[in-house]
Amino acid sequence: MSPTQANDFGLIGLAVMGQNLVLNIESRGFSVSVFNRSPAVTEAFVAANPGKQLTACSTLPALVQSLALPRKLMIMVKAGAAVDEVIEQLVPLLSAGDIIIDGGNSLYSDTERRDAWLTPLGLRFVGAGVSGGEEGARKGPAIMPGGPASTWAVLRPIFEAIAAKVDGVPCVVHIGPGGAGHYVKMIHNGIEYGDMQLICEAYSLLKAAGLSSDEMASVFAGWNQGDLQSYLIEITAVALAQRDPATGQPLVELIQDQAGQKGTGQWTQLNAAENAVVISTINAAVEARVLSSQKPLRLRASGLLHGPAPAPPLATPEDKARLVAQVHDALYASKVVSYAQGLDLMRSMSDKKQWALDLGAIAGIWRGGCIIRARFLNHISAAYAADPGLRNLMLAPFFQQLLNRSQQAWRTVVAQAVMQGIPVPAFSASLAYYDSLRSARLSANLLQAQRDFFGAHTYERTDRPAGEWFHTDWPEVID
Ligand code: 6PG
Repeated sequence: MSPTQANDFGLIGLAVMGQNLVLNIESRGFSVSVFNRSPAVTEAFVAANPGKQLTACSTLPALVQSLALPRKLMIMVKAGAAVDEVIEQLVPLLSAGDIIIDGGNSLYSDTERRDAWLTPLGLRFVGAGVSGGEEGARKGPAIMPGGPASTWAVLRPIFEAIAAKVDGVPCVVHIGPGGAGHYVKMIHNGIEYGDMQLICEAYSLLKAAGLSSDEMASVFAGWNQGDLQSYLIEITAVALAQRDPATGQPLVELIQDQAGQKGTGQWTQLNAAENAVVISTINAAVEARVLSSQKPLRLRASGLLHGPAPAPPLATPEDKARLVAQVHDALYASKVVSYAQGLDLMRSMSDKKQWALDLGAIAGIWRGGCIIRARFLNHISAAYAADPGLRNLMLAPFFQQLLNRSQQAWRTVVAQAVMQGIPVPAFSASLAYYDSLRSARLSANLLQAQRDFFGAHTYERTDRPAGEWFHTDWPEVID
């Protein structure tokens, strides 16, 4: 590396995501300096990619020295303390105006802390959500950068070049200040959890009805040609068709039913609770993962707790087709609820933090590159373009009509699942949210009576103006 080297971009952390991002960035014509804690990994990566504008740097000072000003350094290491460790090593090496980008799944409040740490030092910190997994990093992720608006002019050319494109439009926008980028990535992941759980519940219903793995693969492949088109539906169809090479059996049926999770779904739950925003479908998805992981407990309970006898498999193609159509509608309607809840949480947090998030633009960049990419997101972008102040996605005309025409099949599916003892926590949470939202009068009147009975918390009356509070001297209860 010559002392006058002036590369366009630096990346720290050469795990697969980091390596693929480097190859993507370089393939767009940018020169990239790379560093890994293990120099051997750095050397091996550059050696394995000859003839490219890649510079192996064995130390952080060498990496920093190799970059043109203002320096753009992306950190791709495990979220948490490792990010702080790298930043601490970088700070004394950098100049005012340099940009540090954290491309991991960091918690937005950590990003805010790092922003507050670095800004007084004249450095600029960008927390950027990067979605699409290893393949997305190489071919085109969706990118959700936050941080100072001044960084967008500097980073935009690179990020737009490497991002996925939908209709020629890059799946990246500047999300907002501070931790807004990582926050939106967290919401993306919460919605991802909801999407994945809803698909799994659809699968459990079809399987209980007697469809084979190949039949279910065909159903999902068919749905992927219609309004449920999405990356997750597509990979589900492929996964269900996959045979285990050793046994010839459907591979999915050989996989243990215990789900993992790295934490972004749980962060979403905590944030919703802090903001008093209902995300019942996403909550159901996170909880379903937790309950699935409690296999020993479930095995013990399965021998002790009773349920209905399994329904006989559907006999005729007509019966199967009817169920498939009903499950399609229940899945689509539940998905609308899950997105409405995730967007409602983003709106609430945006107001609280004064981030001025553009929900339509965010839905727009989610159309490609990211894990929840789907045709469906076009309708969300259109809904917010038509009504930027939309209070709840479900009330947008397109989604109102979708829900209204789906709600009967949705009820039938949930009711049949309940009667057959098939757990559908996310379908049923979504339906309960739908029915609660459309209820002009809920049962909370009795709840207010209970609260006033034991705690004198007072209540308002239907026949008096709002803001007038009442208390009743309830009869004594001798318990
Ligand atoms: C993405 C994914 C990714 C996610 C991993 C693990 O947008 O590319 O959301 O960031 O963290 O797939 O997620 P879980 O272990 O939480 O399922």
